[in-house]
Amino acid sequence: MVSPSSRRLWVLVVVLVELPGVLQKCIFDEVQTQARVVRAAPTDPISPPNVHPLNTNPPRRRSSVTHRRSLRNMAPPTPASPQPIRIRTWSPAESHNLSEAEKERMEAAVEEAVRKVSSLLSVIRVAGPLLLSRDVNKYCKFLWRNSSTANYNRCGRANKSYRSETCLDVTIPDDHLAGCDISPEAESPLRTELRPEGAGLPDTDFLLYLLLQATDRCRAEPSVLAYAVHCQTDADGRPVAGVVVLCRDRLTGATYSHQATVQTVIHELLHALGFSKDLFHTWTDCSSKSQGSAVCSPRGKVTHSDGSGQMRIYTPSVISALQRLLGSADPELGGALENLDVLLGKASSHWEARVLQGSIMAAVLDDPPAVRIDPVTLAALQDTGWYTVDMSRAQSLVWGEGEGSMFGSLSTCQNKSSSFFCTGSGSGCHYLHLHKGECQTDRYLEGCRVYKPLKNGSECWKEENGGEEDWSGEMFGFHSRCFFSNLTRQNQSEVPSSGSSEEGRCYRHRCRGPDRYQVQVSGSEWVDCPAGDTIKIKGYLGSVHCPDGRLCRYDDITPPSNDVTTFPASATSDPYEAVPSAQDWSWPPLRPPAELTAASALCLTAAVCVLSAAVVCYRKCCSCRVRIHAASEHHTDL
Ligand SMILES: *[C@@H]1O[C@H](CO)[C@@H](O)[C@H](O)[C@H]1NC(C)=O
Ligand SMILES: *[C@@H]1O[C@H](CO)[C@@H](O)[C@H](O)[C@H]1NC(C)=O
Ligand SMILES: *[C@@H]1O[C@H](CO)[C@@H](O)[C@H](O)[C@H]1NC(C)=O
Ligand SMILES: *[C@@H]1O[C@H](CO)[C@@H](O)[C@H](O)[C@H]1NC(C)=O
Ligand SMILES: *[C@@H]1O[C@H](CO)[C@@H](O)[C@H](O)[C@H]1NC(C)=O
Ligand SMILES: *[C@@H]1O[C@H](CO)[C@@H](O)[C@H](O)[C@H]1NC(C)=O
Ligand SMILES: *[C@@H]1O[C@H](CO)[C@@H](O)[C@H](O)[C@H]1NC(C)=O
Ligand SMILES: [Zn+2]
Repeated sequence: MVSPSSRRLWVLVVVLVELPGVLQKCIFDEVQTQARVVRAAPTDPISPPNVHPLNTNPPRRRSSVTHRRSLRNMAPPTPASPQPIRIRTWSPAESHNLSEAEKERMEAAVEEAVRKVSSLLSVIRVAGPLLLSRDVNKYCKFLWRNSSTANYNRCGRANKSYRSETCLDVTIPDDHLAGCDISPEAESPLRTELRPEGAGLPDTDFLLYLLLQATDRCRAEPSVLAYAVHCQTDADGRPVAGVVVLCRDRLTGATYSHQATVQTVIHELLHALGFSKDLFHTWTDCSSKSQGSAVCSPRGKVTHSDGSGQMRIYTPSVISALQRLLGSADPELGGALENLDVLLGKASSHWEARVLQGSIMAAVLDDPPAVRIDPVTLAALQDTGWYTVDMSRAQSLVWGEGEGSMFGSLSTCQNKSSSFFCTGSGSGCHYLHLHKGECQTDRYLEGCRVYKPLKNGSECWKEENGGEEDWSGEMFGFHSRCFFSNLTRQNQSEVPSSGSSEEGRCYRHRCRGPDRYQVQVSGSEWVDCPAGDTIKIKGYLGSVHCPDGRLCRYDDITPPSNDVTTFPASATSDPYEAVPSAQDWSWPPLRPPAELTAASALCLTAAVCVLSAAVVCYRKCCSCRVRIHAASEHHTDL
């Protein structure tokens, strides 16, 4: 007996909004509420792998569930083990008249995003070609509803107007779809084929329809960068197909950032793959699998409101990842979800910005080097039950590390008890110390304030940000970081009035060990800068603060080697693979360098040969209600 809900078609729409120099937010949830949810017929057919459609007239009908079970039973002697997810991208013809430049930008960004996600997530691979199912509600006029008849739940009449399956703006090729047939009589085995079985897609675990075009949705709202839907899940609830539309105008700007686009795509892809409020309740618990049990059990409701009304995800990996991050054993530490723009008691598809600032799944994306594929996000993907996640590839979040369970709460963020938050509006350093910043808030911080990178020239690691005057001893370049300082050169006749007040300044640093480093200011020697201390520099008045626990501690916090370049041909700007060349000493790296596994290389090939890479831009791409932020914050909302 097949449960009618064994196969579901979901549509999640996501729009990414981009305003130059302005908040770009993810409106995933808003779009998603307008999406339709379709259920396929319980007897929706899937042909056995490698059976040519010609042989299947009338096709042998099997439910997806039966099919999957039989596949498992027929599995080779060694049980299948999870392998990197194969995300295949497919571009419909409408996408094809792009300029070479647009195509290259797009492909480079999507390919990198797909490669990264494939390196993180493994699945029990789809056996045989991936075939999507047809929506019985579309092709069928009625089903046989008498449960005592032979053709119970089969389609009795075709919908004469049925043409094809679509997902968002994409018409799914018949070749990707299972066939369907009609049983004209309730009791007769006679079947009429309505559509033949497609060939399906070989070596594919997730099919990403990628559309690069100027759609009405793109045109309607200048701030829309991309939007996406997730179209279909398999019998275990794992999403298997999605669409991403990238608005082509957004790819042509002079300020185009490859890294920011990659992160946008990853963000959307992670929404599509399961980090979505509409999928939270379908997450499954597979912890018993390691003890030999063959099945996973539903987790049921995983989001609950904590004592203060904050929605949180309470699943085991998420809780322990957050406990580890904040250095707390508090069992109430579920993954805090964004409460802004969400009805009371409802969950959002993003992490709370105050608690998990900088996460790839926060509603706002910072400057690319500050956006982290963090351990809590990976824990959430692990807790979907659909993926085995390579946690060793998590990037250090840094934000909130060791700050305790109250970190990020509205009641404590303004108490000056944490160096991650600031008060007032002065100049200082972004918490990763790659940028100078200004103490600011945004709507997601709800009054809490942090040092945000300035719009212009705040990257210490950019040589070109260095100016003429050096009364403060600033030095810019790849090895420079931000320090709180009020240094002023001795003998300096014209110190600006602001000269003596403490602010964020860029000085060179070099690592001497974990959390041990030296600094150099203009014209000075290298000087030891003991973490947590304040030092003086010869030739200068005032002093420099040496941050504790931020510098020379994380091997994966480095300036991007190359961003805002147009067509990165290789993975050189991949933060996973960036070599922390600032360090001329060594200690065991926190994680092994990312290598392309054979499996992800396969994906890569697949992605390339299908023309455009896959972007399941699960960003909240929204056509509809795109909020325009007049603020001048410098980051990206997803
Ligand atoms: C793409 O096709 C549209 C019409 O379908 C046309 O207006 C546009 O100029 C084409 N773009 C390119 C780059 O050829
Ligand atoms: C269902 O089918 C059976 C067998 O064909 C028949 O006896 C019965 O009357 C049908 N029930 C209804 C409600 O049509
Ligand atoms: C038949 O198909 C058309 C086109 O897909 C659709 O608009 C219509 O709602 C369908 N009718 C029924 C009864 O399912
Ligand atoms: C922070 O300040 C608020 C009021 O400003 C106070 O109620 C709260 O107890 C303080 N918390 C800590 C940890 O100091
Ligand atoms: C940013 O810097 C550029 C070049 O230095 C300058 O042209 C531009 O006006 C600056 N923008 C702001 C907002 O300061
Ligand atoms: C600053 O003044 C001292 C003596 O007052 C002098 O020895 C030194 O060379 C001066 N340095 C600069 C940079 O002018
Ligand atoms: C630098 O700041 C410290 C306090 O933070 C202050 O005592 C000192 O006088 C300042 N020095 C200068 C040169 O402004
Ligand atoms: Zn989002």
